[in-house]
Amino acid sequence: MTRIDEIAPDIYRLCTYVPELNLQFNQFLVRDDEPLLFHTGMKQLFLTVREAVAKLIPPETLRWISFSHFEADECGSLAEWQALAPQATPLCSLIAKVVSVDDVLAVRPARALADDETLSTGRYRFRLLQTPHVPHCWEASLLFEETHGTLFSSDLFHQCGDLEPSTTNDVVGRFRQTLVEYQKGPFANYMPYTPYTDATMKRLAALKPRTVAAMHGSAYIGDGERAISDVAQVMKEVLAGAVT
Ligand SMILES: [Fe+2]
Ligand SMILES: [Fe+2]
Repeated sequence: MTRIDEIAPDIYRLCTYVPELNLQFNQFLVRDDEPLLFHTGMKQLFLTVREAVAKLIPPETLRWISFSHFEADECGSLAEWQALAPQATPLCSLIAKVVSVDDVLAVRPARALADDETLSTGRYRFRLLQTPHVPHCWEASLLFEETHGTLFSSDLFHQCGDLEPSTTNDVVGRFRQTLVEYQKGPFANYMPYTPYTDATMKRLAALKPRTVAAMHGSAYIGDGERAISDVAQVMKEVLAGAVT
């Protein structure tokens, strides 16, 4: 049901394909002294994600639950995870913590990281970048794992279909296809294009990630700086043009 693949040393992609949506939902487990899960998936995925996590670590030892923004596929089963793992703490932006997470969902309060603040989980170090409205939502942030250069990109690099776990081939074309398709239907205007989008994307590209771990679709392994710049261009063309 949920497929497990190691995409970087001790960084695992847990993937559940939902055929009705033609979409993969990926969570990422970083196995370290303080294990971290990026995205929980929706509540309806909790049992299968828990089963996958249990193949990698005792699930009750999970220490950090991080995510980009307040949506079901990002943090829908946060409360279930906190009930299962007594030390599990949400790790997110200050805006996410203050505006939604602590009041609506968290069993125990979140640890907020300021923009550019880092957190070590043992061998791995994570940097939070506040990215308001990228991919979407005011509270959005992304997490960059600095040890191996993995950017957890949430909905950026979204690719539809039941795809390979990781690829060194170009995925920007798939991302463009998703945006173009979504613009034609009920999921139109998936991501806003704001006066800050370009600067945010440049900041992400400057991280020069080796791996871009997308929530939907394959993880991209290669020249992350180039790929993010290309994705930024696609967003500009498809989304900024769609506003009118
Ligand atoms: Fe989202
Ligand atoms: Fe998503």
